[in-house]
Amino acid sequence: MSSDAVLDFLQFVEGQKNQSVRELLDRILRKSRLLTKAEAGTIFIARHRGKERWLEPASVQNDAIRVRKGDFIVPIGPGSIAGHVADKGKTVIIDDVYKIPKRAPYSFDPTREHRRYKTSSMFCFALKNYQDETIGVVQLINCRPHKGRKPTPFAPGVAQLVAPIARVVGHSIERAEMLEQIKTQNKKLRDRNKLLAEQRSHIAALQEETEDAFQLSTQLLARAAEIHDEETGNHIIRVNEYSYYIAKLLDQPDEWCDEVRYSAQLHDVGKMSVDAAVLKKKGHLDESERAEMNRHTEYGHQILAASPRLKMGADIALYHHEKWDGTGYPNGIGGEDIPISARIVQLADIYDALRSERPYKPAFSHAKAVDILTIGDDRIDPKGHFDPKIVDLFSTNHKEFDRIWTRLKDA
Ligand SMILES: [Fe+2]
Ligand SMILES: [Fe+2]
Repeated sequence: MSSDAVLDFLQFVEGQKNQSVRELLDRILRKSRLLTKAEAGTIFIARHRGKERWLEPASVQNDAIRVRKGDFIVPIGPGSIAGHVADKGKTVIIDDVYKIPKRAPYSFDPTREHRRYKTSSMFCFALKNYQDETIGVVQLINCRPHKGRKPTPFAPGVAQLVAPIARVVGHSIERAEMLEQIKTQNKKLRDRNKLLAEQRSHIAALQEETEDAFQLSTQLLARAAEIHDEETGNHIIRVNEYSYYIAKLLDQPDEWCDEVRYSAQLHDVGKMSVDAAVLKKKGHLDESERAEMNRHTEYGHQILAASPRLKMGADIALYHHEKWDGTGYPNGIGGEDIPISARIVQLADIYDALRSERPYKPAFSHAKAVDILTIGDDRIDPKGHFDPKIVDLFSTNHKEFDRIWTRLKDA
């Protein structure tokens, strides 16, 4: 084998980019056999798991008989010829495998022979990677320069020429294997990302549906409570909007403002549980009837406290009739002991009641409602009733309340 042949070999291997490992090995084996006139051959690839190391046949060729790759493995170490070559990384040339001296660290196993084939000469060398580790073994069998004649020994010169080939080929195989691994890995990643994206959009859709369902049931609950109530129509919707507006003026976080917006409408759900005779009674309520009516705050809290998502709604239901000076109900707490959500809804609720027509009062103008909430009248003393900060914000931003009223007033 001339140095031209080696160059030719290297170019052949290097010239084939992007071929699969399988294709690469088949071509390497074919070319090796062509150059050395080997009739048959096998390329083994080294595998390992923990301390276990073995060879697996990756390409098998034989011009004389039909062969299959076979699924046997060869342990790396002394014993077999290929196992020894892989272990030591040294080239082995055997003129006749049936005449291997007893002292050799390897032997030939005749039971491995194909029943219609006889091995005699053998040339076996290791393929190395960049780290000089053996990654495979090329086993060439029966040098047969002339068809029909007996095999001859491999020329000793082939061994010297094998070294550069073995290395370049080893690099190519390793590169091709890495490429295939990367490709497989990339495909796995792509598939997984696709799956994740699908799952994410599915979950997002579910969350949206759940949120929509939640918002709807909250609204239905609030509406259901209105059935027997004097406050009908868009009252609860408007209270939501005033409350949201006040929350924004108070510089509350966005999520909190959103929560106030859907929780405010729940302030009177407890009226569902109030004795119907009391609820529907026109005219003056006696003391016990008034007490039952006031209990709508506690009833509402009982209904809503069951759901963590409705915690703010439960607070609003319980505390929206408390007053800043502590003279409200049901608990008579005052100042900042009253949750801020309830303080907000309290003013929003009363503004809307003032603007609405009721059996006992006409609808007031915006200007009159502002006067009552900021200066007071015979029923409302703003200083005693409301959080002064909220009244302040109301008095400087009251126009928006009128806009909400106008936009959402009952037809
Ligand atoms: Fe109420
Ligand atoms: Fe109300």
